[in-house]
Amino acid sequence: MKILVIGSGGREHTIVWKLNKSPRVDKIYCAPGNAGTYSMAENVEIKVDDIEGLCTFAKEKQIDLTIVGPEVPLVMGIVDRFEEENLKVFGPNKECAQLEGSKAFTKDFLYRHNIPTGDYKEFTSFEEAKKAVGIYGYPMVIKADGLAAGKGVVIAENEDEALKAMDDMMKDKKFGEAGEKIVIEEFLKGIETSILCFVDGESIVPMVSAQDYKKIFDEDEGPNTGGMGTYSPSLIYDEKLDEEVKEKILVPTLDGFKKDGLNFKGILFVGLMITKESAKVLEFNVRFGDPETQTVLSRLETDLVEIMESILDGRLKQQEIKWKEQKAVCVVLASGGYPGNYEKGKEIQGLLDIDEDAFVFHAGTKMVDGKVLTNGGRVLGVTAWGDTIDEARKKAYENVSRISFDKMYYRKDIGKLIEK
Ligand code: AMP
Ligand code: GLY
Repeated sequence: MKILVIGSGGREHTIVWKLNKSPRVDKIYCAPGNAGTYSMAENVEIKVDDIEGLCTFAKEKQIDLTIVGPEVPLVMGIVDRFEEENLKVFGPNKECAQLEGSKAFTKDFLYRHNIPTGDYKEFTSFEEAKKAVGIYGYPMVIKADGLAAGKGVVIAENEDEALKAMDDMMKDKKFGEAGEKIVIEEFLKGIETSILCFVDGESIVPMVSAQDYKKIFDEDEGPNTGGMGTYSPSLIYDEKLDEEVKEKILVPTLDGFKKDGLNFKGILFVGLMITKESAKVLEFNVRFGDPETQTVLSRLETDLVEIMESILDGRLKQQEIKWKEQKAVCVVLASGGYPGNYEKGKEIQGLLDIDEDAFVFHAGTKMVDGKVLTNGGRVLGVTAWGDTIDEARKKAYENVSRISFDKMYYRKDIGKLIEK
């Protein structure tokens, strides 16, 4: 099979890495890819939002399956466009992608189908939004409705911060159109867990659990990022919680899809807050999480192509899916300054000095004249496996210590349980 993977992050490097192990796969293209996919796939210079360019490429190269990594092309409707051309593509269609493309759409879905989530209100008028400042007390959660690369959520500690966030989103248009509508939400206190699910419209099958570390600093301080590290399985996700999430969240979500006529095929990422009372949905994403994929997919025993085909054919229920017992920890190495401004183009040292039982997934990197240079905020995901989270964690940090680039930054507490 010839496969095209769309994207250039750690998630896509992990997908390519996993596909590379499949006997079904002969050739992988990655558009646009990074320095990590460069050694396992053929990188193609097409941007993720160039839907026509990607479509033409898939036709020309007679691609058997296209896997869409990031949310942007999904929300733009890449799946509908590929299907028009009878090209096989893995991911939800445009209608379903609203579950990530609009926070208000998701909140409305959750409320209508009685799926546990925090209280919320949506606004398109700044004046109206201003009147609602503090209605749920503080901290106050303010979200741009549309896509904002994981940065459109502000947790305001007081009225001034709340007003500033609303002003930034609605008046200064910091996130462009994405902030024309905002959602304000009740703050949920607890521990976050990510449950990625395979969905084929008829069934929903959760993968092993994972935890992401969203904040830039240790102990969950500072602004939100795309994710500074992850481990799997989550230390708090026991059988009882698993049952609760299936019964109260996953099954009603699938039923909701059916009732609303949403033909969801692909990956549904369920972001949960495990509060003292119950598990509540923070968000849905309609694709693999980044960096969760690095720890989740690397624990998948079954061939990913087989699972994806079973989803496209609507026979996920019969598909066997096996997981490794080994635990995984992934520490993200970022450019100093991220999630604010940072420099690119720094040479990365030590990439060849990695243990055999660890792996470095690339994110914001590029290959220039045989050198690997930084090319983004989140640069690498150093991942290791072990019989316990602690063992995997020690190995991951041991390998981190061998890598360096100018102004490299990482959190020191990935793999530890942080209760706020
Ligand atoms: P979202 O993109 O909606 O998941 O929000 C990004 C991050 O903001 C989440 O992973 C949480 O860390 C935090 N967050 C979002 N909504 C809430 C909420 N209602 N209560 C507490 N934290 C939240
Ligand atoms: N790690 C969170 C996300 O992929 O959106």
